[in-house]
Amino acid sequence: MLRCHRDGLPDVALVTRGDDLRRAFREYQSFGNMSTKTTVEAHDAALLTDPSIGDLDPPRHTQVRRLLLVAMAPKAIVQAESHVAAAARRVTASFADDGQAELVSQWATPIPSDAIAYVLGLPENDWPMINAFVHAQHSDAEAAVVAGRGLAPASEDFLTYVGDQVATRRRDPDEFDDALSRMCAFVGTDGTVFSDSEVIRNVQTLLSAGNETTTSLMCNLVWRLLTTPGAVDAVRDDRGLLPAAIEESLRLDPPVQIFNRRVRASTSLGGIELAIDEVLGLSIGSGNRDPAMWGDDPDNYVVDRFADPAAVPGHFGFGLGAHFCVGASLARLSALSGIEALLDATANLRLADGWTYDKVPPHALRRPRSLPVRFDPVPLSG
Ligand code: HEM
Repeated sequence: MLRCHRDGLPDVALVTRGDDLRRAFREYQSFGNMSTKTTVEAHDAALLTDPSIGDLDPPRHTQVRRLLLVAMAPKAIVQAESHVAAAARRVTASFADDGQAELVSQWATPIPSDAIAYVLGLPENDWPMINAFVHAQHSDAEAAVVAGRGLAPASEDFLTYVGDQVATRRRDPDEFDDALSRMCAFVGTDGTVFSDSEVIRNVQTLLSAGNETTTSLMCNLVWRLLTTPGAVDAVRDDRGLLPAAIEESLRLDPPVQIFNRRVRASTSLGGIELAIDEVLGLSIGSGNRDPAMWGDDPDNYVVDRFADPAAVPGHFGFGLGAHFCVGASLARLSALSGIEALLDATANLRLADGWTYDKVPPHALRRPRSLPVRFDPVPLSG
């Protein structure tokens, strides 16, 4: 644990060790999920109407989380497999004859966006428009940091579009079997139902929580495979290694490096006394390299480290406990489908000459701004 100050950001007590992170993620009663701009008292006194899940802890958090879990139901993700794989092949085919591509914009942005749109049930004709919206949000994340402001809200047009999709499902519930219709029909165990504006807000949450993160995972994965000696050959020779390669990417280069919490009651963690209202920075990036968990090579990309998941600890890439990522399965599916399609369509895949890693500016995010590659095209079948 260490205390840190950075101009323009709240002072934080940074949680860096795996053991301390496990406690901080699990003990939501002591370490609350709320904006760093408020205090515990003000947060609890505010009757948040239509709150984002990022401002809630159990018990209020539980109903919203159930709604999102209904949207991202395991059965729906399994059922999406062939569709996401087809979308990944289509996206990859769009540049496969060129012998070159910029993977952030041409591959790692559209595939997760199409996957989320598919699971939500948004019509395929609209995917290019949704893609453009997601792309604009990615760019806005950078602009927001440079300008020192928060993310711009989704455009009115986009919200109207989602609202129309909600209204269609309210009118004809039997016509649809998708995440949006399940969200519209959702009734919590205590009878809670969600209004149109709450459903729209949670669709926005899924789009913003799921896109930039999965784009980052896919770029970080390719970057490590291409820069770690033998790694890309290992996964080409044994595609069964890809899930392990993805987990190792999430461990070494977690797309979200840090999540904040606020101390709800005076306590101590990692030998440091914490006062109420202090901001905790849960450093996923650091915990995922803690030598106490990962042995003597925590900074290396070991492509088969997760080949036997039972033999390694869990990484913090998707968080832990009450707020564990609801889209983890879909993110893994997008990354696996994307990398399979890319390996199928290319031989001699390599980084463009002269390219150097330039990280996206937001301090909490980790991925290269661009990822230009060269390759020998291989005709795709199917
Ligand atoms: C590689 C991709 C992804 C990464 C690295 C990631 C990471 C995370 C992490 C670390 C958390 C925990 C936040 C906390 O403890 O405060 C989280 C929560 C969440 N994620 Fe993801 N995520 C990814 C993809 C997705 C996708 C695809 C979706 C949905 C389409 C999604 C939706 C959410 C939501 C709604 C939460 C809040 C859960 C809660 O507070 O109960 N994520 N994610």
